[in-house]
Amino acid sequence: MNTLLSASASTPAEGEGSVLEIRGGRPLTGRVEVKGAKNLATKAMVAALLGETESVLRDVPDISDVQVVRSLLEVHGVTVTDDGDGVLRLDPRGAVSAHMEEIDAHAGASRIPILFCGPLLHLLGQAFIPDLGGCRIGDRPIDFHLDALRAFGATVDKLPSGIRLSAPTGLKGANIALPYPSVGATEQVLLTAVRAKGTTELRNAAIEPEIMDLIAVLQKMGAIISYEPNRVIFIEGVDALRGYDHRSIFDRNEAASWACAALATDGDIYVGGAKQQEMLTFLNVFRKVGGDFDIHEDGIRFRRGGALKPVVVETDVHPGFMTDWQQPLIVALTQAEGVSTVHETVYENRLGFTQALNKMGASIVVHPEGLASPDRRVPRRALEQAAVITGPTPLHAADVVVPDLRGGYSYVIAALAADGTSRVSGVDIIRRGYEKFFEKLTALGADFDVVG
Ligand code: EPU
Repeated sequence: MNTLLSASASTPAEGEGSVLEIRGGRPLTGRVEVKGAKNLATKAMVAALLGETESVLRDVPDISDVQVVRSLLEVHGVTVTDDGDGVLRLDPRGAVSAHMEEIDAHAGASRIPILFCGPLLHLLGQAFIPDLGGCRIGDRPIDFHLDALRAFGATVDKLPSGIRLSAPTGLKGANIALPYPSVGATEQVLLTAVRAKGTTELRNAAIEPEIMDLIAVLQKMGAIISYEPNRVIFIEGVDALRGYDHRSIFDRNEAASWACAALATDGDIYVGGAKQQEMLTFLNVFRKVGGDFDIHEDGIRFRRGGALKPVVVETDVHPGFMTDWQQPLIVALTQAEGVSTVHETVYENRLGFTQALNKMGASIVVHPEGLASPDRRVPRRALEQAAVITGPTPLHAADVVVPDLRGGYSYVIAALAADGTSRVSGVDIIRRGYEKFFEKLTALGADFDVVG
């Protein structure tokens, strides 16, 4: 039996944690399994707070973001039991208001605490949210969240240490239009509206597969949620919800990461648990770059299909090309024959990681204001950046420090593709979103030591 999670949370910050010495130049070959999605499991754990009975979540990944949410639930009096093999039982019947200092100590660098607001307001009439962390990939404001909570009738007070919310007379359904189809703000509205009095209409909602899976979780709990194809979600508030039993959707970000690792290292990786339907957009780009894949019942096999070719990609909300996929893809694009462009349209600071790739021999120019392009599908946002990658360039070893979750993963892959021995510091951030990372690298034949 595989023991999942320790009770104490720790989310490594930038530059913290283990140092890897990686001897590159070998293809990654073999099979890895992906479990439940970080971006669903953590939210489903929060949803358990809304139930009047115990919830069971399956395929929970063994990552530090899950530990953070577990700790936060525990300081709020939720009993969390680890049954092993990725099964968590969450019993909210003892839920209580927690002390500010406790919440602070357990929140670490995660952004998930913001999603506790709605459930805690329903349960206790108040909530406190510490300063939020997460990856340093832009400002990542929470204005959409706070505006939505105000629309439900919550009072929001900003304190130096965080945000205090209250709703002594309860929350009411609202008409909300998001300025941008934010994943987190859509989850905020869902987790709040299901128990609010009356109906909520949410326009310009995010429709990522993880959101659809959260809707499935909430429906199992007794919620009434419907949606239209034009990003409109209707939620009819109910008086009470029960616990759920749910198996998380697979982690398509991790699956895409290993697929890019196969491309970058000229390897051959079978990603068990990956499914085609949720990865259609990624698979199209993977094929255009010159990758080949076979879809199987229990996973997808990824490898090169010949020389790598340049592409033009714009990140976007679902069903577009996810922002989380561009970082590992850029490592592979350094080996494509020609000039590729990656327009980052979701975050304003998610291309800084390319500096270290240049140190390793890549030729990447970042345009901080973005680039005009006649055939753009996504309208340009003010915060946009673009990376122009000219390849192929041989990569050589370097000493680099992990900047964020996906950037960190990308450095490890670049070091594995490079000639010579690299030192990659601060790799513990990668544990926020990739479970059994070192074990998986070993299983794929990576040659590395943990040296610090
Ligand atoms: N935004 C605002 N105001 C808000 C909320 C968002 O301006 O109140 C902006 C953000 O600054 C950003 C854009 O809206 O420019 C999109 O942010 P979104 O809210 O969609 O992202 P998120 O919910 O904070 C989740 C994932 C991210 C993933 C994005 C986009 C989790 C815990 N995180 O973040 O995952 O990149 O959606 O799909 O679900 C990762 O896994 O590495 C990661 C960063």
